[in-house]
Amino acid sequence: MALDPTPDDRFSFGLWTVGWPAADPFGAATRPHIDPVESVHRLADLGAHGITFHDDDVVPFEVGHRDPAGRDRILGRLRSALEETGLAVPMVTTNLFSHPVFKEGAFTANDRGVRRFALRKALRQLQLGAELGARTFVMWGGREGSEVDAAKDVDAALARYREAVDLLTTHITEQGLDMRIAIEPKPNEPRGDILLPTVGHAIAFTHTLEHPHLVGVNPEVGHEQMSNLNFTHGIAQALSQGKLFHVDLNGQNGPKFDQDLVFGHGNLLSAFSTVDLLENGFPGGGPTYDGPRHFDYKPLRTEDLDGVWASAAANMRTYLLLKERAAAFRADPRVTAALERAKVTELARPTLGEGETLADLVADRGAFEDFDVDAVGSYGYGHVALAQLALEHLTGVGA
Ligand code: GCO
Ligand code: MN
Ligand code: MN
Repeated sequence: MALDPTPDDRFSFGLWTVGWPAADPFGAATRPHIDPVESVHRLADLGAHGITFHDDDVVPFEVGHRDPAGRDRILGRLRSALEETGLAVPMVTTNLFSHPVFKEGAFTANDRGVRRFALRKALRQLQLGAELGARTFVMWGGREGSEVDAAKDVDAALARYREAVDLLTTHITEQGLDMRIAIEPKPNEPRGDILLPTVGHAIAFTHTLEHPHLVGVNPEVGHEQMSNLNFTHGIAQALSQGKLFHVDLNGQNGPKFDQDLVFGHGNLLSAFSTVDLLENGFPGGGPTYDGPRHFDYKPLRTEDLDGVWASAAANMRTYLLLKERAAAFRADPRVTAALERAKVTELARPTLGEGETLADLVADRGAFEDFDVDAVGSYGYGHVALAQLALEHLTGVGA
């Protein structure tokens, strides 16, 4: 299998990822600004399919706010670069977190004026995304939260969040746009606590909305792992509920700050099971993911500009390596046998038989009185052997 990415692999990158100049709370930038037009060309050369961006990644906040002619000029350059390279824009998103005006929140800010400003900013970016062919609008609420419990009426905040999403989906519906919204959960950072902190919270929230079919999630590897949760299980539940609209792939080493490492450079076994699910689906069939493979990582602060492009390539190469290993894992007859022994395939079979009722179950002595709990309780499922097979495929000695 080819390890050189092509647009058919549907890899996409946020402009803010490669474009991060590596300033952090403790130190100044270690790299110069990269012109987004340059990023478009470099990512195309590396074999990516598309780019994604916040409004402010391309048009500086001040220009976007009060200089319409300047904005048009900058966007014209971006459009030309996209045409020259053939890169797509599968997703766009809005920066509602950098400017001090958003320090207390955006859609859920206590100040009503901030909420109205945030809506205007988001609506304009959604419109631009639609023009550029984006099918997904990501909402990451980095400033939607607080550090002080008493400072936020969480019920009212969730009502305002709902109001904002409902207004945007109503706009999508009325304008007939081919666009869906993906909420991106994160537990904390930059706020002490962020609303809709996990995939589960976000999915539950989507069911309270006016157009629930238009709203899903954009889970990020590191964000779930910051909460010590299993990322693959998170996207699995989103998939099984028809809510996996988009995905942010990166690397993370357990619960700490958002590390944004290259995909696979954190919990590698988890990255393997993530790729296995995205590429090969559930063992028993079920819904599959057909969206972009989007990287939201940061080139390490230690890297120079060559290192930036090498790190972008590393994300794609790692994904393709894992895709190759996951295919070999699935095709291995020893894995098929191990899955049988672990009864993984039996789980797809409903617990009651066709036409069987609860009363029938109660009448079935084999299900209870005669069920040999000792024999079943002493059965060895062989999970360790299964894990070892995954590890050996992962390390390239499986085949
Ligand atoms: C973060 C987030 C962001 C979002 C981006 C898209 O932790 O900073 O992951 O990178 O994905 O703002 O909305
Ligand atoms: Mn993140
Ligand atoms: Mn993200």
